[in-house]
Amino acid sequence: MRVFIVKNYEELGVQAAQIVSGQIYVKPNSILGLATGSTPLSMYRHLVNIYQEYGLDFSEVTTFNLDEYVGLPEDDKNSYHYYMYNHLFRHVNLDRMKIHLPDGMAVNIDEECLAYEKAIQDCGGIDLQVLGIGQNGHIGFNEPDEKFEAYTHEVKLKQDTIEANARFFDDVSEVPTRAVSMGIKTIMQAKKVVLLANGSNKAEAVYRAVCESITPTNPASILQLHQDVIVIIEEGAATYLRDRLTLQQKERILFFNKIHECNGIIAS
Ligand code: PGA
Repeated sequence: MRVFIVKNYEELGVQAAQIVSGQIYVKPNSILGLATGSTPLSMYRHLVNIYQEYGLDFSEVTTFNLDEYVGLPEDDKNSYHYYMYNHLFRHVNLDRMKIHLPDGMAVNIDEECLAYEKAIQDCGGIDLQVLGIGQNGHIGFNEPDEKFEAYTHEVKLKQDTIEANARFFDDVSEVPTRAVSMGIKTIMQAKKVVLLANGSNKAEAVYRAVCESITPTNPASILQLHQDVIVIIEEGAATYLRDRLTLQQKERILFFNKIHECNGIIAS
């Protein structure tokens, strides 16, 4: 696990977009795992910019999103379908046949979960998975629980997640209570993972993910077992790491202060 602290949210987007675009340059038919929420917005903005300014070619790229609410149609402005088309898909030359999100309106959600998981496996698995992190340590919609759910599954959202996401809705009562999410094994099978965190409200979750025990009650902690994880956080989300890490822990997780000092390492 390599942790990089960047000076602000804009820089987080720049660095994350460089990693994603580097992946596409190196492997034009990459399978990307994509995240929604407020954190990756600057990354998507910079990816669109790289497409427009430098002609980054998405035509052979395949995408799988982490999750989708159950019960929201694709054209609902709070669905993750809508979010992805709004912030990335309609701005770049992705082949629509290669875009995948779980269908939260499927009549049979269990079958939808199975089909989604199979589609990922049939493509050979994800090359690069982008993740945000919830204040409760969730990745995708894998909520804190007594056990890890391995594969794509239906989730009952925790109250703190519903409340955190209420800011996107007119009222908390409108936030769906269920979602479809990739499982922990689906995520862990990705060849490379990039975890993004922004804001002081994520500082504790980041610290717990990077430094504390690996447990399903803190789902992001499982990433400590992944062989290729880059954590990019802006200053606010880094406060617990800065304050609480011992020197030994810092050495263990290859702790750097500035991502631009480490571009060679990211690229290697
Ligand atoms: P956020 O959500 O990017 O909107 O903070 C991240 C998450 O809950 O996984």
